[in-house]
Amino acid sequence: MNDVVMESAAYVRKTLRATKRPGITDLLDHMEEVGFFTAPASGGNHLCCDGGLVVHTANVMKLAEKAGKVFFGPEKFKEMRNSIRIVAGLHDLGKCGAWNKVYYAENMIKDGRPTKANPEQRYKRSDGKPFEVNKGLVHIDHPMLSVKEADLYIELTEEEYFAILYHDGMYGSLAYYLKGHERPLQTLLHFADYWSAQFEEMKSLPEPEEEPAAAPDPEPEKEDLPFN
Ligand SMILES: [Fe+2]
Ligand SMILES: [Fe+2]
Repeated sequence: MNDVVMESAAYVRKTLRATKRPGITDLLDHMEEVGFFTAPASGGNHLCCDGGLVVHTANVMKLAEKAGKVFFGPEKFKEMRNSIRIVAGLHDLGKCGAWNKVYYAENMIKDGRPTKANPEQRYKRSDGKPFEVNKGLVHIDHPMLSVKEADLYIELTEEEYFAILYHDGMYGSLAYYLKGHERPLQTLLHFADYWSAQFEEMKSLPEPEEEPAAAPDPEPEKEDLPFN
């Protein structure tokens, strides 16, 4: 597994566990089972690659905490910290699917044409859009699947439920219903999610950060040449 994916997975696990929300350990086990730590974050946009979902989730969790400190101030932030972690950590859980069906399936395209020598049509995963929403799923948008899946293991507060459900803000399928009813936690999550996906994340995983090279030892001072 790529280093960035491993680091992100460890961060998501540790930070969600730190909330001590009853049921969170069982939910993390469920996330492992449904492929949360290997799923892509999108079909052909941000982090549309294996492991992209957990890297995106860690990015959103970190940014939401950072922005939350600024938006809410230290006192309120302390009160809201666990809710921020829960909603950021679980907002895209629905991208692992539900009812034992995956959300993203590999987008297989034709790989060349059959020839006399090789008459069988070959297929490969598309480079431009490696995944597509599983055609076998009934059309339920992923935020609704996120709350449904989280709800099986932990109790979300009303504000948390709302934040996850409307995390796509005015770009989501529920935009019409959201208008005029925005909430602080939901808006913070939306900003952190949108900022990460639009401005920070590429299609592929980032390169692991290299350890900064150790500064070379200072050159020994040249001894003064003795006067002749
Ligand atoms: Fe989402
Ligand atoms: Fe997201």
